[in-house]
Parts: sequence; structure tokens; C-alpha cells
Amino acid sequence: MHKLNEKAVDKVESYLKQAIPSKRSYNPSLHFAPPTGWLNDPNGLVYYKGQYHLFYQWNPYQPVWGPMHWGHAVSDDLLHWSHLPVALVPDEPYEAGSQGGCFSGSAIEHDGKLYLIYTASSQQDGQPIQVQCVAYSDDGVHFEKYPGNPVLTAPAPYDSHAFRDPKIWRHNGQFYMVCGAQHGDRGAALLFSSPDLFYWHFINCMACSDDVMGSMWECPDFFHLGEWDYLLFSPVDSSVHQNMYLSGRLDYHTGVFIWNTSGVLDWGMDFYAPQSFCDAGGRRIVIAWANRWEWMPWWKNWGPTAQQGWCGVMNIPRQLIACADGRLAAPPVRELMQAAWLLSRRSGLIVSPDDGLAMSAIPDGSAFMMRLSININASTADELLCRLFDTGAYYTDLRFSLQQKTLCIDMNHSDAWSYGCVECSFPQAASLDVMILFDGLLLEVFLNEGEVCLSNRIYPAPGLRQDRFCAIGGILCLDEISVYDFAVEVKSSLE
Ligand code: FRU
Repeated sequence: MHKLNEKAVDKVESYLKQAIPSKRSYNPSLHFAPPTGWLNDPNGLVYYKGQYHLFYQWNPYQPVWGPMHWGHAVSDDLLHWSHLPVALVPDEPYEAGSQGGCFSGSAIEHDGKLYLIYTASSQQDGQPIQVQCVAYSDDGVHFEKYPGNPVLTAPAPYDSHAFRDPKIWRHNGQFYMVCGAQHGDRGAALLFSSPDLFYWHFINCMACSDDVMGSMWECPDFFHLGEWDYLLFSPVDSSVHQNMYLSGRLDYHTGVFIWNTSGVLDWGMDFYAPQSFCDAGGRRIVIAWANRWEWMPWWKNWGPTAQQGWCGVMNIPRQLIACADGRLAAPPVRELMQAAWLLSRRSGLIVSPDDGLAMSAIPDGSAFMMRLSININASTADELLCRLFDTGAYYTDLRFSLQQKTLCIDMNHSDAWSYGCVECSFPQAASLDVMILFDGLLLEVFLNEGEVCLSNRIYPAPGLRQDRFCAIGGILCLDEISVYDFAVEVKSSLE
């Protein structure tokens, strides 16, 4: 057996000991962030031996993308994470080079062992060569790479420079893998099967892009939930979306995925490469990287945390719920509510255009959540303006148009780094439930229990700031508004 290069692991661990800064501004308390350096996609999400494991794309040495390692952390509640030693270090020729490394992949338990299946990326004549590799562990902490790596190369006619991000599952006693690929200028998801995780057979291209779904499908994910099968992916160069799903049925014999509904998991600017997994209770949970790449429209720089040696944060873990029509809702996992402390609750409020509703100041730097239930039928207002983190110079606006049934989040005045607006529609109904979660540098908004979600990084200025609700063009009826914060230790549930 080929032991994981202990010297390479030790090098990372001793670097970390002297690199971790004592105090970080914008640091989230409930969202996962790296101990130092750069983080992108979540990898290898799995519930193994009684704990949640989160692996992630990591460059420990610099707060910029670079040779990719797999960082590793565990949690009992999906909110509070403990860092573990680095799981994968790019120390083999098939993952060498400044643009190379151990790229994204997934994890699966088999016969008590934890297997990681990942893309090894290296370079030849300036072009990436991407192949799939396996590593395993008996304790879920120390991993060995399979000496027979790579276990899979791109099948013809697909290019080996864009063949990555394997996601594995079990079905009828076989292992299956979906891999992101490119065919000409279209993204594709390729399906493989294996009896043992080492020998892989190409079945078919499950699905591929139309004119708007991008030129490469990164981080595909496949699962069955409720009545349907789902294929999630993050399209490169899509003119419309940065995360998408298709729902339909996979024919395991032909390998073709016939889909009839498409959707978006999150309409914000910062939700990429979502990966899902099932926990012991059968919940399907999804975690994504709260960021976007430089090549995407509206990319807005990496923000100020790089000055403190770190960059990157995961979204709050969400539970996927399948709706009858094939759509997915993605509310935060129930552990979030269980960790929340109620600070205030008011019911039956009427806000008139002349007197806004000021919220009591929330201390800097702590995570908080607001929940409001807007009685749309009883309101005559055209719009609810929710102005957050207002210092005078900086503020972030959430504009709910009760006429158009749209939410627009305007970040043009949020801070010295952010700009742009995102907009989405919400369902026509008698009332609208809104959950606003903020933690350090990430604003996540959930409408109607995750039917519509939006994630955006912002960097509110420290100091005195106000949150205020205004009714525009008429009165606004709020059935309820509650504010919560989160203690360091998890406290008992309020609801
Ligand atoms: C997605 C991605 C993956 C790749 C990884 C490299 O964000 O580009 O396709 O495996 O990041 O870090």
C-alpha cells in the first residue's frame, strides 16, 4: 500500500501552526471558512461514523486559488466545525503543476472504509489533463491514495482537459458516477458504473447542454428525491445561471436522463458548486461555495479577507425538499433554528409610509436572523424596503415589490467592494415568509421555507448601524417579525 506522503501532510500542518491569525474580521460563526488560505468547492460530503464530514478545495498557503489540496473538517450539527488534518495533498505526478492538484470529488462509505473519488489535474503542453483517482481510509482521517491511480480517463470523444468532479452513489448493488465534461462547446454529464470503485465502465452521456446551459458542467450531482431523479450542475459560460438542476428520470440501462423541469437552487451571486449527501436520518443536505469565479458576469473581486490571509466560505447547509411538480426547495437545516436565540418578537404590525419600523441594533460581528411574515392580501403598499446595515454611507437594500412579486437585493451601496443587484420572483400568495440570515460576510435570504433562496457576500462596515423597514405607496401589514442571534454554544430550540 502506498501511504499518503506524510512529509507533505506535515508541511501543511506545521505551516498552519504559524499561519493562523488570532483575530479575523468578517469571520462567520456558523458558516464554514478555512483556517487560513483559499477555499472553493465543498467535496466529499458524507455522514460517516456518527459525524458530518466536509472536505473542501483548499490552497493552505495563499488566499488565492493554487495547487489544490483537500481540507477536512467534521461537525455534529452542521453549524460548528472542527478542523482535521489535510486529507489530500497533490504529491503525485498525475496531480502536479501550478494549475494542477486534487480537484473536486465525492466520498462514499464501503465496507466500513471511507473512499474519496477525486479529479487529479496535471498539465501537458500547457493543457490540463484530468483523470479520476481514488483514496481511502479506515478512520476517516488519514487517507492513502490507490497505487493503481488513475482509475478513469476521459472516454472518446470527450476531452481530457475538461473531465472532472466525480460524484458517486449506489444503486441496485452497483456504484455509479457522474462526471462533468465538455462536448464541443456544450457542457455534458457522463455516467459510469463500477462493481468495486476501481474498475469503471462508461455507460452514456446522461444529459448535455442546450444553447443556454453552458460549455462545461462543473460539479454535477445526481440523486433521487421524492418522485424524481435530479441532476445538479454548475454551468461554465451560461448566459443565465450559475447553478441549475434538472428533474426527470434516469434510465440506468441506456444511461439517458430524460428531464422535464429545470430550476435554480439559489438566485444570488454567491452559490456555486453545490454538493449534496444523505445523512443517517435520510435527509438530503446540500452545501455550496458562497462565491463565484472571475470569469462570471457580476464577479466582484475576492473581498477584503484576503488581506488577513483567508478567502472563502460555504453557504449554510440546506435540506433539499422535492415538490410535487419536480421543483426543489432548500431551507436551512433545522439545526439552524435549534441554535437560535429569540431576541424579540412582535405581531400584528402595521407600517405606514410615514413611519418606518426601526429594528433594535444588532451587535457587530455576530450572526443574526430575522423572520418576517408579510400579509400581502391586507397590505396596500407597492413595496417593502428593508434597509440593512445602514451607517449613512453604506447600506444594503432588499426591495420586495408586492405588485410585481419580485425581490431585488441591491448591493451597490453595501461596502467598498460590492456592487450589482440580483432579482428574482416569488410566488403569488396571500402571505410571504422571509428569513434573512447574516453571518460575518454572507447574507442569505429564504422565501417561503426555501422555495426561493438568494446568497450574497457583502462586507458591512463595522460601527453603529441600523436596520429599518419602510412601506412605500401604502400600508404594510406584518403578521409577525422576530429577530434571533446565535450563541457560541448550541442552546435549546425556541420553536
Ligand atoms: C468548480 C471547479 C471544479 C474543479 C475545482 C478546482 O468551482 O472549477 O470544476 O474541480 O473547482 O478547484
